[in-house]
Amino acid sequence: MGDITRIGVIGAGLMGSGIAEVAARAGRDVVVVEANAAAADAGRERIEKSLARGVEKGKLSAEDRDAALGRLTFTTDMEACSDRELVVEAIAENEALKLEVFGKLDRIVQSKDAILASNTSSLPIMRLAMATQRPEYVVGLHFFNPVPVQKLVELIPSLLTGEETAKRAEAFASEVLGKTVIKAPDRAGFVVNALLVPYLLSAIRMVEAGHATPEDIDNGMVLGCAHPMGPLRLTDLVGLDTTMAVAESMYAEYKEPLYAPPPLLRRMVEAGLYGKKSGRGFYDYT
Ligand code: CAA
Ligand code: NAD
Repeated sequence: MGDITRIGVIGAGLMGSGIAEVAARAGRDVVVVEANAAAADAGRERIEKSLARGVEKGKLSAEDRDAALGRLTFTTDMEACSDRELVVEAIAENEALKLEVFGKLDRIVQSKDAILASNTSSLPIMRLAMATQRPEYVVGLHFFNPVPVQKLVELIPSLLTGEETAKRAEAFASEVLGKTVIKAPDRAGFVVNALLVPYLLSAIRMVEAGHATPEDIDNGMVLGCAHPMGPLRLTDLVGLDTTMAVAESMYAEYKEPLYAPPPLLRRMVEAGLYGKKSGRGFYDYT
């Protein structure tokens, strides 16, 4: 079966670009598939900027940057994934869209033991697996934002994931990418988001209730509890659209009020205030 050398990444937004970058930096050949040419260009720019930052900070040589860029191919045609040994899906947190992608990948990816992974934050892996004819080769590989910085990957085997698939996916994340892997259950939110998302939603409810300003809440958690960033700035980093989608799928799974997206979050998403990626969320980035 050997080492995994040919990777596909579907979606080159915040997460897909990070996953593609770390795989290319680890010497793997990476095909990145986006929905359209503009999104593919934006993904490539995000990776170029991140690699340039690595060079500026002395963490990466200019040669290694160029070699990593040379291992990346951007396309809008998913057929380019036909020879991939591992494909990581990282499109928007939308179940219908993800089911469509898994159905297509199942038809396109030729190798019988190729792994189809999802970077979903909250959707059950079992559902994505059942959109394919090969559920034993489908697994959750949940990275954290920003991917080049955060050391964790959650490994989420579904009820039908093969033992060998889980082992190979884990070895890829730990041995090839150098991440620390924790095993998480196939329940909406897995381990980290099951704890993190109610905290982010509580902070939004505090703003909504006029309890404190975003700045004061964030300063409280940064300076009082040594968090690298406060919950509102973190929600801006994750994306308010993604945070709301994650909250919705966790609420659908557990029916617990702590997971219900607060109206302020919904209004901000309706207004297009997605956070850092759109230029405005709880803070202004323009
Ligand atoms: N790519 C590469 N390196 C990056 C980077 C990027 N996109 N962003 C930051 N870095 C590196 C910097 O080069 C810097 O490295 P050095 O310390 O070696 O110089 C380091 O990270 C710190 O960066 P900065 O000094 O620019 O900024 P900072 O200190 O404010 O850190 C941060 C920024 C890394 C985002 C930090 O604030 C942080 O870790 N915040 C918390 C993020 C978090 O909780 N993420 C999880 C979100 S939840 C999730 O991902 C799951 C989900 O499903 C929603
Ligand atoms: P994003 O909005 O930044 O990017 C999503 C990308 O997917 C966009 O560029 C979009 O053009 C592309 N896309 C949509 N449909 C597509 C298709 N059919 N084919 C190819 N590309 C398509 O979102 P993101 O923050 O990168 O999140 C992606 C996934 O990762 C989601 O499942 C999310 O829950 C998960 N995740 C997000 C974070 C985070 O902090 N943002 C952390 C961990 C996991």
